[in-house]
Amino acid sequence: MPNRADHAAFFAPFEAGTRARPFVVAQLGQSLDGRIATLTGDSKYINRGAALAHLHAIRAHVDAVVVGIGTVLADDPLLTVRLVEGKSPARIIIDPSGRIPVAAKCLTRDGVPSFVVCKPEAELPHGITTFRIATDNTKLCSHAIIRTLGEHGFRRILIEGGAQTISHFIDAGCVDRLHVLVAPMIIGSGKPALDLKPIHDLQDALRPRTRTYILDDGDVLFDCDLRSPA
Ligand SMILES: NC(=O)c1ccc[n+]([C@@H]2O[C@H](COP(=O)([O-])OP(=O)(O)OC[C@H]3O[C@@H](n4cnc5c(N)ncnc54)[C@H](OP(=O)(O)O)[C@@H]3O)[C@@H](O)[C@H]2O)c1
Repeated sequence: MPNRADHAAFFAPFEAGTRARPFVVAQLGQSLDGRIATLTGDSKYINRGAALAHLHAIRAHVDAVVVGIGTVLADDPLLTVRLVEGKSPARIIIDPSGRIPVAAKCLTRDGVPSFVVCKPEAELPHGITTFRIATDNTKLCSHAIIRTLGEHGFRRILIEGGAQTISHFIDAGCVDRLHVLVAPMIIGSGKPALDLKPIHDLQDALRPRTRTYILDDGDVLFDCDLRSPA
């Protein structure tokens, strides 16, 4: 975990979020070679204790945590705050067609609200609260998702994964901060952490202003300010 002063610096920008313009942070836990899972989807655990505690600290500083349905089907995460003190954020699952199993842990009735973001025509089991987003039949509009979450009072939003979900939000320019937690581990094959729109020239690559922190057990945290080019 970054020290106390770093900790305060980290979370101060989150407070800028408003209902009209929520603050959006995305996190990626990846290997040295930029993978977030093996080809078979095994991803537990690339990062070690301090990085996992950092992820829980981010959850404790946001109003909503967002994951794609791919992550729910692969990992069945609970998405609550357990490794640090703090309140669990609302859970938001992007599931355009309604593929979520009713027994998914993120739908547990434990007092933490859960919402599914889906297409208008998606059929979901009774009892699941939905945010229905109009679509042009390809992707759900990332801006419309963030706008809807803001309108429901979520001022600070964590996009926790997986790769496709984070990539859509970054491509749309919706992410303010990206926290990349790099573990000194080489997987060598498997799912890439990001899959952004192709660019031709390196000058078009994102090169955000970035601060780095070495965490207690050797993982490195890159705190990238996507609103400020280096
Ligand atoms: N290391 C980490 O930090 C981390 C964190 C989380 C997950 N993971 C790993 O990541 C893997 C899952 O990632 P993934 O990329 O395969 O899946 P994902 O991003 O979790 O989910 C992708 C799916 O979510 C839906 N979706 C998300 N954004 C959308 C949008 N804007 N418009 C329409 N649909 C949208 C689509 O569902 P439909 O296909 O139904 O349309 C899409 O196929 C797992 O192996 C998991 O273990 C790693």
